[in-house]
Amino acid sequence: MVPVQLEPGVRAWLLLGYQESLAVLQQPHLFSRDTRNWREANEGRVDLDNTVAMMTWLPNAFYADGADHVRLRAPIMDGLARIDMTAMARTVHRIADGLVDRFVRDGEADLIGEYAQMLPALVANRLFGLPDSYGHMLNDLTAVIFSEDSQRSEESITGLQQYFAGLVARKANKPGQDLTSWILERSTDLSQEEVAYAASLVVSASHMMTVHLIGNTMRTLLTDDRIRSANTDARLSTHDLLDHVMWNDSPLQLLAGRVALQDVRIGNARVRKGDALYLGVDAAHRDPAVRRGRSDPDTGLSSGSRAHLTFGAGPHSCPARSLGRLVASTGVTVLQERLGGLRLSVPPEELRLLRSPFLHGVRELPVTFTPGRVSEPPALLTQEMEQVPAVAEEEQPPEDLLGKLFSWWRGLGR
Ligand code: HEM
Repeated sequence: MVPVQLEPGVRAWLLLGYQESLAVLQQPHLFSRDTRNWREANEGRVDLDNTVAMMTWLPNAFYADGADHVRLRAPIMDGLARIDMTAMARTVHRIADGLVDRFVRDGEADLIGEYAQMLPALVANRLFGLPDSYGHMLNDLTAVIFSEDSQRSEESITGLQQYFAGLVARKANKPGQDLTSWILERSTDLSQEEVAYAASLVVSASHMMTVHLIGNTMRTLLTDDRIRSANTDARLSTHDLLDHVMWNDSPLQLLAGRVALQDVRIGNARVRKGDALYLGVDAAHRDPAVRRGRSDPDTGLSSGSRAHLTFGAGPHSCPARSLGRLVASTGVTVLQERLGGLRLSVPPEELRLLRSPFLHGVRELPVTFTPGRVSEPPALLTQEMEQVPAVAEEEQPPEDLLGKLFSWWRGLGR
């Protein structure tokens, strides 16, 4: 446990040990996710609407405790449970093939910008029951939010709010066989605004994590010969490879804060009621107490244990880890299948790391490969889950909020 400052004068604890982090995640009666319990906010030193990431407050499951958490999380869980994972696996594969088709003849690509970022956005968009063009818009809006251009970032935040409000209004009007409609169906005690926040949470909790799980896994394969040969010789399955990366190169390095609900001692630290705690996932994974015996001393391979904290733990743990794994493993497999002679086009030390306290990954992953052919038949990025023809909707977006947003985005030259 180390005392840290989140902003000048705004104090919190950073947990570095594995067992301590797990204990905090698994005891929601002692450690709340509801940031309205945070002393710094209650005593006026920070404004919850405008504070450090993950310590704001929004009306969604991520920031709720107890019965309210169950009320907000259950419709998402029920919706996710209705996904046909076999059909989803085919869809993810086709989307990944369609993305590779765009650059496979060039012999070079940036696997983050041209692939890893697009794949989860297009998958989420299919889940929401929208044509792919809306997925491209979603990806653009999300990418700008994480960029350093604050003025464009404001525009994108407004755009994203409109996207989700428009999405829910459209699906409430015309339900389909999609996650948004299923969440709406199960949300009898949620307002439309809360459903829009739930849909928005699905994207914010999943998108960047999946991007950088794919990115970090590809970077590991491209830079670590032992891991690459273990994977090609079938000594390390793709799922075990993902776990190896989630232990050693996790896309999540810091987990959202919790707030102590009473005075409590952790190790030698005396945590007071109202104190905020951040969980150092990357540090916890390097904790000697759990590291011992986990890696093979000769090969460096992790043992395949899934006890890492990359999907969280306790009541807020990721409700979609199978889907996250499916998207990441398919994303990696399709690249391995389609791009022969794949190698980094810059020395590994020149890869630029993200500037984020929460996420760990690279900004670009430039590679070269032997130019190949587009898939047969071409895996066109067209709509499979909804009966509405994608092209017609793109040409004449409906005059609802989502359609207007789409016209605005297309007007930016997309
Ligand atoms: C590799 C991909 C993913 C990773 C590493 C990941 C990781 C996580 C983690 C660590 C949490 C817990 C946060 C906390 O305790 O504060 C979480 C929560 C969540 N994840 Fe994921 N996730 C992934 C993919 C997804 C996907 C694909 C979806 C949905 C389609 C999703 C939906 C959610 C939701 C809704 C929550 C909030 C749950 C709650 O607060 O009760 N995640 N995720």
